Amino acid sequence: MRLLVVGSGGREHALCWAIAASPLCEALYCAPGNAGIAEVATCLPVDLEDLDAIVALAVARHIDFVVVGPEAPLVAGLVDRLAAAGIKAFGPSKAAAALEGSKAFMKDFCARHAIPTAAYARFTDPEAARAHVRAKGAPIVVKTDGLAAGKGVTVAATVEEAIAAIDAAMVGGAFGDAGRELVIEEFLEGQEVSFFALCDGRNIVPFGAAQDHKPVGDGDTGPNTGGMGAYSPTPAFDAAAERRVMDEIVRPTIAGMAAEGRPFKGILFVGLMMTAGGPKLVEFNVRFGDPECEVLMRRLMSDLVPALLASADGVLDGFDLRWYPETALAVVMATRGYPGRYPKGTPIAGLEAAAALDEVIVFHAATRRDGDRILSDGGRVLAVTAIGADAAEAQARAYAGVDAIDWPDGFCRRDIGWRAVGR
Ligand code: AMP
Ligand code: GLY
Repeated sequence: MRLLVVGSGGREHALCWAIAASPLCEALYCAPGNAGIAEVATCLPVDLEDLDAIVALAVARHIDFVVVGPEAPLVAGLVDRLAAAGIKAFGPSKAAAALEGSKAFMKDFCARHAIPTAAYARFTDPEAARAHVRAKGAPIVVKTDGLAAGKGVTVAATVEEAIAAIDAAMVGGAFGDAGRELVIEEFLEGQEVSFFALCDGRNIVPFGAAQDHKPVGDGDTGPNTGGMGAYSPTPAFDAAAERRVMDEIVRPTIAGMAAEGRPFKGILFVGLMMTAGGPKLVEFNVRFGDPECEVLMRRLMSDLVPALLASADGVLDGFDLRWYPETALAVVMATRGYPGRYPKGTPIAGLEAAAALDEVIVFHAATRRDGDRILSDGGRVLAVTAIGADAAEAQARAYAGVDAIDWPDGFCRRDIGWRAVGR
């Protein structure tokens, strides 16, 4: 088969790495890709917002199967556009991607189907939103309805902070159309877990759980990021928790989406808070997590391509996946300044030395090649992954990889996996 992966992050590098290892893969392209992805796939420059260009590229390269990594093209309808051009793709339709594309849709959907999630209210009027926050008090969570590149959520510790978030979105227009409507919800307390389920519109195959580290600093301090590291499996999510989440959240969601005429195909990313009252849904994403995907791909023993094809073809019933029992851990290396302002084009050395270490694979999240040099090209730049018999061994190996990398402009958290290490 001729495959195309859409995206340019660590998630897409991990997907390309797994797909390139499949005997089904005759040719692999990635659009636009990055310098690391170029080692396993042919990279094709494209603007991810230009759906016409992506479809044209898939047609021109005679692609049999497209795997869409990021949420924005899914929410914009790339899978529908590819289908209209006769090209099979992995991922949800535009209608099904609303589970991530519109928080208001998602919250109303959960209410219709009795799916356990934070209590909420929707607002299009800033004064009504402010009054709601004053009445409820803090902590409280303010979310833009639409996609805001991961920056649309404010977990406010005080009423003033929540009101500032309302004003930024609704009065200041900080998020454009995405912030015209807000969802304000109850603060949930507990450990966060990312659970994944592969779906074909009707059938569901659990795809593992991981724990991400959102805050930028050690000890979970500082502002939230896209994710500074992850590990899988996690002791925070055992078989009983998985059964409960499948029964209370995933099955009702897949059945409800089918009943509402929006069958969900692709990977459902179930963002959970493990509260004292049981697992509650924080958010749905309609794509793999990043860096969760990197650790899941390191643990997957089965061929990825037939699994993704079975999702697209609606034949996941009875599909079995096998996993390595070891722990996989990823440490994200980011450019100094992230998640605020940061420079681009800083040189990175030592990547070969890191890759030569035991069980270490470095996935690139934002890099470009300049002759013999690899340069940073974004905020989160590398995901250094390792496998180990337990979290402690995986952590030690991943940080050995980090320490082999010579990148003065980069930094990372030093405590990824801390909850699982030493248990
Ligand atoms: P979201 O994009 O909805 O996942 O929100 C981003 C992050 O904000 C989540 O990963 C959580 O860390 C945090 N968050 C979102 N909603 C809540 C909530 N209701 N209670 C506590 N934290 C939340
Ligand atoms: N790591 C969280 C996400 O991909 O949204």
